[in-house]
Amino acid sequence: MKFFKIQLHFPDFTVDRKKKVYIETYGCQMNFSDSEIVGSILLENDYLPAADMKSADLILMNTCSIRDNAEQRVRKRLNELHSLKRKNPSLVIGILGCMAERLKEKLLEEEKHIDLIVGPDGYRSLPRLLEQVESGQKAINTLLSADETYADINPVKLSGNGITAFISIMRGCENFCAYCVVPYTRGKERSRNPKSIVDEVELLYEQGFREITLLGQNVNSYSWGENGSSIDFPRLLDQVAGINSNMRIRFATSHPKDLSDDLLNVIANHENICKAIHLPVQSGSSRMLNLMNRGYSREWYVQRIEAIRKYLPECAISTDIIAGFCSETEEDHQETLSLMRWAAFDYAFMFKYSERPNTIAAKKFPDDVPEVLKSRRLDEIIDLQQELSFQSNKNDIGKLFTVLAEGVSKRSDNQLFGRNSQNKVVVFDKEIFKRGDYVVVKIGSCSAATLKGKAIGDE
Ligand code: SAH
Ligand code: SF4
Ligand code: F3S
Repeated sequence: MKFFKIQLHFPDFTVDRKKKVYIETYGCQMNFSDSEIVGSILLENDYLPAADMKSADLILMNTCSIRDNAEQRVRKRLNELHSLKRKNPSLVIGILGCMAERLKEKLLEEEKHIDLIVGPDGYRSLPRLLEQVESGQKAINTLLSADETYADINPVKLSGNGITAFISIMRGCENFCAYCVVPYTRGKERSRNPKSIVDEVELLYEQGFREITLLGQNVNSYSWGENGSSIDFPRLLDQVAGINSNMRIRFATSHPKDLSDDLLNVIANHENICKAIHLPVQSGSSRMLNLMNRGYSREWYVQRIEAIRKYLPECAISTDIIAGFCSETEEDHQETLSLMRWAAFDYAFMFKYSERPNTIAAKKFPDDVPEVLKSRRLDEIIDLQQELSFQSNKNDIGKLFTVLAEGVSKRSDNQLFGRNSQNKVVVFDKEIFKRGDYVVVKIGSCSAATLKGKAIGDE
């Protein structure tokens, strides 16, 4: 590196000789946030972002293990990278994230063209590991940590719209839902210093961002203690919302067992905390929830939804659902459908159960719902949700919403799109408005996915 610095009087040459990194991210928002941390670490270590894969000296894939098809997608991409590596043998390929953590050395053995494996808690060691790769060795760090939160690293926004951003406030998960790989790939639950979170929100506001999403696998179990005093998620949220009323705050994901009335009260007290709660239910059957080790029953979940409706009548509720978990019967499935109808979810992410190696379910319960049944149940769940989402959007026709404009609509240059507090996408004519504006929009029509309306003024 020193050699390049000596060449500083040849600026173009210097820039050309810097290595270029391309990061491709799969999986959840936490992974996207991690890629920004990785970007920040590498930029501080003489790397530049590459415009595309072909011009990169280093390609990093930040991977996800949540379902088998998530891993298959990465494997397919790795096959494509093989040909790039053949053309350019000095290209370095690294695997980051949950697949790196789950498969460790095995991945190096199976995919010969990979040079580097780094798990979610090892990103600070990347510069050292890359030097090792440069010296001709393969490099691996899959150690999990009990306290790494990357609190002091300011993530660089490598992509995005400049208006909405994600901030990780906690890492890991210790809930051990029977089907889930995350506790094994992300390690122990730990919360980030609240001061570093507040500082990052302030910085993002100065940079023009107007919406942040606080992230964690289970954000409402956030807990930070120091010198005898402690701060929980409702207190953190209250503090963050108080920074600037023009900064919208969202958070994900909430676990039903930890959704307190205290939290709902804080959300009700701040206009700028968005009225949208993502509350994964997974199943409507208490027997399934028990087998899944979710820590709540159908009745508990119902009573939490009732609490949301009481404190936050305008709040949208979205969920995650798994179809065909071990031993699921037709009655269990019908209970999921009836709960969906009762809750009238505004939106849902829906999945077929995918057995993950070494999880509690993989060890204890046979994956015994036939594939055709899983598919049929998932289809029924998706069809019902489509109806519910459409009905929820139809209920909004005629209403006024404040929309944060995020960008120009894909369909037309004359239209902007953004989201309302309820996290619904709203499209409207651009007129005098621009990205980053809060615009009051009157809804005139909708599809199951989008609201359309007319801007009637700024806020
Ligand atoms: N921490 C969050 C979500 C984590 S993963 C929570 O507890 O709700 C996102 C979603 O993926 C889960 O909510 C679940 O619906 C789904 N999922 C996780 N493991 C899965 C598996 N093995 N098969 C199918 N879906 C799964
Ligand atoms: Fe997985 Fe459950 Fe943790 Fe969510 S709460 S990440 S589903 S173990
Ligand atoms: Fe996937 Fe890991 Fe996120 S398994 S969902 S990238 S925590």
